[in-house]
Parts: sequence; structure tokens; C-alpha cells
Amino acid sequence: MKFQTTHYHLDLLKDTERVSAFFEAINQYSLKTDLAYDLGCGSGLLSYFLSDKFMDIISVEIDSKAHACALKNLEKFDNIKVINDDVLKHDFDKKADLIVCEMMDTALIDEEEVQVLNHARKFLKQDGQIIPKAIVNIAELVNMQRDYIHWDENASYEILSEPVNYAEIIFKDEINPNFNKNLEFKVNRNQIANGIKITTVTILNDNVVCGPTPMFNPPLLIPIDEINVKCNDLINVKLKYIMGQGIETIETKIL
Ligand SMILES: C[S@@+](CC[C@H](N)C(=O)[O-])C[C@H]1O[C@@H](n2cnc3c(N)ncnc32)[C@H](O)[C@@H]1O
Repeated sequence: MKFQTTHYHLDLLKDTERVSAFFEAINQYSLKTDLAYDLGCGSGLLSYFLSDKFMDIISVEIDSKAHACALKNLEKFDNIKVINDDVLKHDFDKKADLIVCEMMDTALIDEEEVQVLNHARKFLKQDGQIIPKAIVNIAELVNMQRDYIHWDENASYEILSEPVNYAEIIFKDEINPNFNKNLEFKVNRNQIANGIKITTVTILNDNVVCGPTPMFNPPLLIPIDEINVKCNDLINVKLKYIMGQGIETIETKIL
């Protein structure tokens, strides 16, 4: 089968670490489970992985080009229904055993994962699961070259502190999109600190964990006011953002 896809979704498919993590997590389902939802199905690869594990799959995609690809790619599967809609406006008739939702971005800031899951969770059976299951966010103080918010695409920076695990978000729980916390960094070298780096690790299920990959939550670098730091200093930074509302919502302040 030749998979039809958009340029963006092709880049997602080429990210083999991301794709194999989802394959492994979905593959752990036993055959003929009742119902799965693939939210933001793109060109339909994850629905394809679901096809021989679930009796019925409903796949929803907002982008009409990606939806057209998914329709074509999945046309031979009688058990998959592909819908062109905004999940946030879509009500399902039944409760699912599994929701797969990959609308992720580093710390869930730039895509709609939180809003979509807060809407869709009511269509999940009580013992149902969500893939991914959770994320863990880690922050480090850095000296970075660029003075604007950017993802780590070969960016140059030096890590200046121990890592701080600052948030664990479990997708089965209602998620408050407003994040506001003081982070304390233990400095481990003498330098000028001018940023923080955020890394998101994704827990797909109890057995599959995927670190950042080029197309799956690449580390995010955020400038802060410049400050001279010395080994063993404790530096407190207030970090604030709204998940799902974009990187424009990020605010930082050295305390
Ligand atoms: C990161 S891509 C993942 C695509 C596919 N699931 C995969 O893993 O290859 C996220 C997809 O979610 C879709 N999406 C974003 N917001 C959506 C919404 N509110 N309703 C439906 N689809 C949405 C995007 O158009 C995009 O195709």
C-alpha cells in the first residue's frame, strides 16, 4: 500500500522513533477490543495500527487535506470511520476503550492536546485508556545563543544547572491549562544564565516511554533576563504559560 500524506504528516511518519513508540503502545492491546478513537488522525497511520486490534475505530481530523489522505489510505478497512471535523465540536455516541491523541508539543503549550482531551475524556469508558498516558516536563537553566523562544533545532546552548522535574501531567485526569510555578535551579557552573530549556518525556503506557524526537516535543528554549550565576547558587525563576494557547503565552521572571 502506498501511503498518501501531506508534507507535514510525511515528516511525522519519517520520525521512526515516534512512530515505533506508538506502534508498540497500540500493539499491546488484545485482539478485538471494542472501540477506539484516533483524535487528530492526520493521514491515518495510527488508525492503521489500531485496525487489527479494535472492532471499530473512529478517526477524526480537522485538516481537509490530511482527512482526504486518511480516507484514501484507510478505504479498505471496514472497521474504520474517518470524519473531517474539529474534535472540540464533536460529540461521540459511544464510550471508547481507548483514545489515541497525538496533538502534542513540548510541555503541551503549542497544540490542542489539553483542550481536546478535556473535551473527549467524557467519551472514554471508566476503565478505558488514553495513549499517550502522561508526560513529564523537565527544566534546566542554560546559557543560550538566541534571544527568542525557539525549539532545539541544532541550537547552541550550555546547560548550567541540575535538571528540575517540574510537572507530571496524567491525561486521564482533568487538566488545568494555566501553568504558573516557581522553579528552583541548583547551578553547577559559573556562567551567565539567560534562558531555560524545557524537555518533555512522553509516557505512552506503562511499558513505552519516548523522549524528545525531532518531530515529537523537541526541547524548547526560553529566554530569561541575564544573570551571573556561580556553582551551587540557587536561582528561582517564575514560569507561566497556558497549555494549548501557544508559545506567545510564555512568561518568565527571575525571583
Ligand atoms: C501531530 S499531528 C499527528 C497526526 C497523526 N495522528 C500521526 O501521529 O501521524 C496532529 C494532528 O491533529 C490535527 N488536529 C489538531 N487539532 C485538531 C482538532 N481540534 N480536531 C481534529 N484534529 C485536530 C492536526 O490537523 C494534525 O493532523
